[in-house]
Amino acid sequence: MTRFGHFDDRAREYVIERPDTPLPWINYLGSEEYFGIISNTAGGYSFYRDARLRRLTRYRYNNAPSDVGGRYLYLRDAASGEFWSPSWQPTRRELEDYRCRHGLGYTVIGSRRAGIEAETTYFVPPGQTLEVWRARITNHRDGPAALSLFSALEFCLWDAWDDATNFQRNFSTGEVLVEGSVIYHLTEYRERRDHFAFFACSEPLAGFDTQREAFLGPYRGWDRPRAVEEGRSAGSVAHGWAPIGSHHVELALDRGESREVLFVLGYAENPPDAKFDPPGSTTVDTRRVRPVIERFLRPAEADAAFAGLRERWSETLGALQVVTPNEHANRMVNVWNAYQCMVTFNLSRSASFFESGVGRGMGFRDSNQDLLGFVHMAPARARERLLDLAATQLPSGGAYHQYQPLTKRGSDAIGSGFNDDPLWLILAVAAYLKETGDGTILAEPVPYDNALGSEAPLDEHLQRAVGYTLDRLGPHGLPLIGHADWNDCLNLNAFSEAPGESFQTAHNREGGVAESVFIAALFTLAAGELAAIGERFGRPRDAAGYRDAARQMDASVRAHGWDGAWFRRAYDHFGNAIGSAENEEGQIYVEPQGLCAMAGIGVDDRTAERALASVAERLATPHGIVLLQPAYTRYRLELGEITSYPPGYKENAGVFCHTNPWIVIAEAILGNGDRALDYYLRINPSAREAISDVHRCEPYVYAQMIAGRDAPDPGEAKNSWLTGSAAWNLVAISQWILGIRPEHDGLRVDPCLPADWDGFEATRRFRGATYRIRVRAQAGARGRVTRLVVDGRPLEGTVVPPAAAGATVEVEATIGPHYS
Ligand code: GLC
Ligand code: GLC
Repeated sequence: MTRFGHFDDRAREYVIERPDTPLPWINYLGSEEYFGIISNTAGGYSFYRDARLRRLTRYRYNNAPSDVGGRYLYLRDAASGEFWSPSWQPTRRELEDYRCRHGLGYTVIGSRRAGIEAETTYFVPPGQTLEVWRARITNHRDGPAALSLFSALEFCLWDAWDDATNFQRNFSTGEVLVEGSVIYHLTEYRERRDHFAFFACSEPLAGFDTQREAFLGPYRGWDRPRAVEEGRSAGSVAHGWAPIGSHHVELALDRGESREVLFVLGYAENPPDAKFDPPGSTTVDTRRVRPVIERFLRPAEADAAFAGLRERWSETLGALQVVTPNEHANRMVNVWNAYQCMVTFNLSRSASFFESGVGRGMGFRDSNQDLLGFVHMAPARARERLLDLAATQLPSGGAYHQYQPLTKRGSDAIGSGFNDDPLWLILAVAAYLKETGDGTILAEPVPYDNALGSEAPLDEHLQRAVGYTLDRLGPHGLPLIGHADWNDCLNLNAFSEAPGESFQTAHNREGGVAESVFIAALFTLAAGELAAIGERFGRPRDAAGYRDAARQMDASVRAHGWDGAWFRRAYDHFGNAIGSAENEEGQIYVEPQGLCAMAGIGVDDRTAERALASVAERLATPHGIVLLQPAYTRYRLELGEITSYPPGYKENAGVFCHTNPWIVIAEAILGNGDRALDYYLRINPSAREAISDVHRCEPYVYAQMIAGRDAPDPGEAKNSWLTGSAAWNLVAISQWILGIRPEHDGLRVDPCLPADWDGFEATRRFRGATYRIRVRAQAGARGRVTRLVVDGRPLEGTVVPPAAAGATVEVEATIGPHYS
């Protein structure tokens, strides 16, 4: 039982107290166009909008030691010649009082060595395409100290994929310019790029370096740069090879004296016809960017920007704040889970310690689900995202599986044919409408596949999504699965025998009948939502038709999706059941047990309850609910990637955290508050903090996966941060356990609490008004709200109608045995 730090709830920070965390524990900088990841030892990299195509700094994934490349500082004591990194990496010299405070959009790393304290705050000022490193160095010695401060980062040659592969070209293209204390990184600027990077320092320089080899010295690493060891920069100007940015500042500090040194790293663009100064030359025009650089090198400006950043986050998180009897729930709802949802909104699945930034674009289903977790915090940005997503939908109603954030175009490499994809758009639009009441979005013209002239109102896109499923039904009346459904690894038409072939794009057998019970449940849910949208907003018009379609699908699931004690998962290419007691392995899968109950399938006839009992018996473990049992032990051609993983990992019986909140929601729908909270807490990162040595990933955010009981190391998490677990867990706790749920007609307050809670309080922003909600559970009472009082007046039912913008609404809910 080892912790590596603690939560500072008041400051909304996680404080890491030792640098040697089991994995780099990271945080994100930026939330608009300029982003970075930063680890607890200052590792990581930055990019403008696209982690692949506009990468500013270089990072080496899967390296040894781990986490190589970062925003490094070195201190050197002139008297002793000793040098160290105040963030531990890359020198890894012993430090006193090391701490890393990861906050909302910023990270502070500090330590002490030999009487010298250094603390650096890293953040991106709101509205800017740059980051500030603000270093404060304090001399706690009895006498004066003569120090050298070196900065060091390595520039990436923009396209991160090319940067890591195309050395025959790249070793010749690197270019920089040094002007005063500003280092400009200009590779490819002389030709087709109209952007460049800059790295500036607030102090006059004693020296600089821009060529890696000159700074490090031959055959040396970042742990022992020759320039730092000798206390003297080489003044190198990179041409080709590996451009870096390193400033050298000399500091003479009296006893007790503190000095601040600011560094600014950023991205700038010039208009294509005004790139050079003078025009016609090949010298970059720096006139536009210099004032911005100078501004953020001034401590007062940096301070103001930092204060602005903190204020912004308070405002964002103010959308929902709760006080419950459980500190782990409070912490995640109020700070970390909400924060993670915003990060998934910004980054999708692009850049983390596990996502290299060169692979996946924005996932269609992923982004739609992410939206469920942030729409209440950023409704305007949610609207924009929905329209972007819908514009990548295809005329067939299907969708590109992914699109590129820079171009917003669908990715041909992966294409479409993941037959669940389009249905998620309906859930996301429904969530947006319930949150905002803004029906105008339904009439918004949106193209198909971004083709000019193909614009149709958004509600038509939603109808085509439903049509896409109905056009592709199999022999049991269940939707055909295509490449995969929510489960990317259930590839029932892939039949892949070639090593390395992508399971997601392989489609080696045609003419099969592989059907998905999961998509059937998702369809039932989505068609119901679309009907409700039609009833509420008058568009789409055929609400009754969608209700019918939902009913029919529900009937197909009951007829062909029920296995006797749980819902089946699918039918394979040949029509054999998957996720059935008749299978040898993979007899029960978690996904349909959750989704069916969420869609209302089996809730009235108690089959859903039976299915959840099966989940409890067969899938629930102390580390969370595993995806399936028994784990697949050998590769099965007819099932695909799911059987490629060793037992207990990923979709093959790992605790795939995305699915756990579906079961939490299902339990809440059935009224089992104890079980709902219990499951919720099993994967709650804060609740797992005490076993950080087992969990290993950051204790402040969800990971995609925790190793299941069949793995050699059950409980070990992987793939933290960019996962649909963030959105769904926030939805599960806030909307279903706490029961504060936006609906078309208002804000529903319908909690499903565990028996030992006596209530909770919450503040929820909703359509411009503020709802102050107090829920009291009478002693021994279980079940649902029996009395609701709004602004002093009792209200029938549990939906609080929308109030005037700016109003504060007092809501008192009682959970009691009787109506009082
Ligand atoms: C990953 C994918 C997501 C998929 C899930 C299950 O999280 O990003 O789209 O649903 O895996 O396979
Ligand atoms: C999901 C799965 C992963 C698979 C990937 C392919 O992320 O979790 O196992 O390789 O999808 O897109």
